[in-house]
Amino acid sequence: MEGDRLREGNHNQVRTHHNTVKLGRNDKCWCGSGRKYKACHLEFDERIELIRGQGHIVPDHGIIKTPDQIAGIEESAKINIAVLDEVADKIREGMTTEEIDRIVYDLTTRMGGIPAPLNYQGFPKSVCTSINDQVCHGIPDPDVVLEDGDIINVDCSTILNGYFSDSSRMFCIGNVDEEKKRLVQVTREAMMKGFEATKPWTFLGDMCAPVKKHVYDNGYTLVREIGGHGVGLEFHEDPWVGYHTKAGTGMLLVPGMIFTIEPMVNMGGVEIYIDSENDWTAYTEDGSPSAQWEISVLVTEDGARIITW
Ligand code: MF3
Ligand code: CO
Repeated sequence: MEGDRLREGNHNQVRTHHNTVKLGRNDKCWCGSGRKYKACHLEFDERIELIRGQGHIVPDHGIIKTPDQIAGIEESAKINIAVLDEVADKIREGMTTEEIDRIVYDLTTRMGGIPAPLNYQGFPKSVCTSINDQVCHGIPDPDVVLEDGDIINVDCSTILNGYFSDSSRMFCIGNVDEEKKRLVQVTREAMMKGFEATKPWTFLGDMCAPVKKHVYDNGYTLVREIGGHGVGLEFHEDPWVGYHTKAGTGMLLVPGMIFTIEPMVNMGGVEIYIDSENDWTAYTEDGSPSAQWEISVLVTEDGARIITW
């Protein structure tokens, strides 16, 4: 994850760490509003400091988005949503995952964006396509043909004017059996339970706990090693979002944070392995099917808003 790189980001000039300069009450606020600090984020920062003092992990300014940044991320998200809508429209039995990659590349670039996965840490394609027992990071391939009964996750990420958006959806190809359909449905419900629990001045674990509960109540397991992440100014920012985090723990959530909720749910055991041929694709150890949905959410003053789906 790239959280550490983000923390070095140059827009984050004023931090509340002991080694950084504190803003004076009459200085301009760090958020770019142009207002005086005392009339803008001073109280907000004091509230965060109080919670840090109680021993919690708190966000630094580098991952708290300003209104301009949020607007930029939402523009990027428009492309991401349009691309997944297009995939939803076109995906069908007999199509190769390479064709999905083509659809994603063509529409993203036609709308002025860049597919974020392409060349990301050596990833060779524009989108991840993960079928059945593939947990995530499936690589589009001209030899992989969608078959009747498959479930597939299509995970799309866009860069527009330097702003990142990220979301994924599941698709059922042809006649999918009831058990796999239920897996897809329960995974979506789990993600939405996370969204509904996302509120400012609570903790990441308060979002994670209902996701995990819904998954295990339904007899499934939740992948531990790969999670969600902050997103917007970078592809992967802090916090890392693992759904095994307990309520009341994990990073404090404050308005302006954007992160993904993207649980990977296995029908069978929790164990996964990475394909040694490509060093990317994760599979369930026991070969059971796996499903994933992903949205990016913005923490607001009174709850949360879905930015990408
Ligand atoms: N949305 C996926 C993630 O956040 C996409 C990864 S792109 C890849 O992990 F290039 F890393 F595969
Ligand atoms: Co993601």
